Amino acid sequence: MIQVRNIKKSFDGQPVLKGINLDIPDNTTMVILGPSGQGKTVFIKTLVRLIDPDAGSIHYDGEDILRMPTKEWLHFQNNIAFVFQNSALFDFLDVQDNLSLFLQMHKSLTLRQCEQEVSRAINFVGLDEDVLEKFPEELSGGMRKRVAIARAMIKRPKYIFYDEPTTGLDQNNAEKISELIDMLKKEISATSIIVTHDIKLMRDVSDRVALLREGTISFVGGRDEISAEKLDFLYETRGAYDI
Ligand SMILES: Nc1ncnc2c1ncn2[C@@H]1O[C@H](COP(=O)(O)OP(=O)(O)OP(=O)(O)O)[C@@H](O)[C@H]1O
Ligand SMILES: [Mg+2]
Repeated sequence: MIQVRNIKKSFDGQPVLKGINLDIPDNTTMVILGPSGQGKTVFIKTLVRLIDPDAGSIHYDGEDILRMPTKEWLHFQNNIAFVFQNSALFDFLDVQDNLSLFLQMHKSLTLRQCEQEVSRAINFVGLDEDVLEKFPEELSGGMRKRVAIARAMIKRPKYIFYDEPTTGLDQNNAEKISELIDMLKKEISATSIIVTHDIKLMRDVSDRVALLREGTISFVGGRDEISAEKLDFLYETRGAYDI
């Protein structure tokens, strides 16, 4: 269980997160919906210490990660994978190396075991093994996103964080990513935390939904409790949709 309490973050005196409270139970897919520019990326990065909040606490199974010494935190990070909004693959490494780099950093495996894990992950995300020799710039956005998911799953993390996993993809690819998120949750029993403004993705994958509105969580509940009116605020901000 992740417990977020009163998280605040301002940039240049402008508050972005104004006291976020949220419980994320284990083995659930929690989708946090919010319009563009309202702090989704800031919030999800705060959950994994990529951004330091100004105030508040974040506990994973009772452990206060914001006050965890660096050495312990480095070890704890083995439990966590992050799929970035822009996929964040290393441009100068082919797909094989993008995947095995993480494996070598986090697990002590032989070369053979490493190759097997890479093949398994790339097959799992529905890509052909030919892709392993390609560089990120040779892939489509949808393929890059799948490689990023393969890189996340290869650690077999307890928690997977996704920042806008379907943004910039056509409907077909977006649906494939939704399926993958669902399959992956079952495959490794991960807790998935997704920030997005994609309502369809929320409807397809979420167990719980939180609405991020003006720097606070305005609602948390099951996806069946989300009425159309509750989502009206997503349309109020210009540019909330990338369609
Ligand atoms: N490092 C930073 N320095 C200054 N301001 C920042 C920084 N990071 C984020 N912000 C500001 O915080 C606000 C929220 O940004 P954030 O990227 O979290 O939005 P978002 O909800 O993820 O938007 P999108 O849906 O477009 O990805 C924006 O006003 C942004 O300019
Ligand atoms: Mg963002």
